[in-house]
Amino acid sequence: MSRSAPVVTIDGPSGAGKGTIARLLAQQLGYHLLDSGAIYRILALAAHESSVGPDEITDLTELARNLEVEFRLNESGCETQVLLSDQLITDRIRTEIVGNLASQIAVIPEVRLALLDLQHGFRKPPGLVADGRDMGTVVFADAELKIFLTATPLERAKRRYKQLMVKGIGVSLPALVREIEQRDQRDADRKLAPLRPASDAITVDSTGMTVDQVLMRLMSLVREALSESGVVR
Ligand code: DC
Repeated sequence: MSRSAPVVTIDGPSGAGKGTIARLLAQQLGYHLLDSGAIYRILALAAHESSVGPDEITDLTELARNLEVEFRLNESGCETQVLLSDQLITDRIRTEIVGNLASQIAVIPEVRLALLDLQHGFRKPPGLVADGRDMGTVVFADAELKIFLTATPLERAKRRYKQLMVKGIGVSLPALVREIEQRDQRDADRKLAPLRPASDAITVDSTGMTVDQVLMRLMSLVREALSESGVVR
């Protein structure tokens, strides 16, 4: 793995705000961004399009090794566009079908291994912000700064509730809380790359914090970590 550029990892459960915070942090630092969840989704879409099922491990691994992926910011800088073999697929990886397929594919050890090189390739100067589940524990175990970003199930359920309301989808808040608690348990209990903070990660609980407050906290942790490791600034 190249040690040429510093890495900040942001792991944590879904709904903790990792995606938004990682994008804003990467922008502020002028760093590259790796949304590793999107990588699993892109592979799922590629598999779906090539009619490769979640149990066809050899074909999935082959696809994983040859994925041509690119992330780039749109003109306003507030959305990350996703490209697969030069085709824009930003919205297509966010569907329910692709999400479900991604979570099935993500438990296959051979697939996770095959995606390592691709993920390591995002580590380029001046630096990288990587968000996911196992960035600090597995993929960038030598990262300069590891953040575990979390929030209570109720807070995450409320955020999700608001997003769904905006889309005109009515759901019950208690049901969302239950769903989130069950998923956390599943993610933490799974044998392969379970969701847990790296031993040297700093946990940031974003419950009750605004996006700006979380960003400021992370920026100060980044400054501290990078000056300590002598990397930059
Ligand atoms: O964060 P997300 O919903 O976009 O992630 C899609 C799927 O990939 C989800 O099932 C979790 C999985 N994933 C993973 O296993 N490891 C990662 N580093 C990132 C995501």
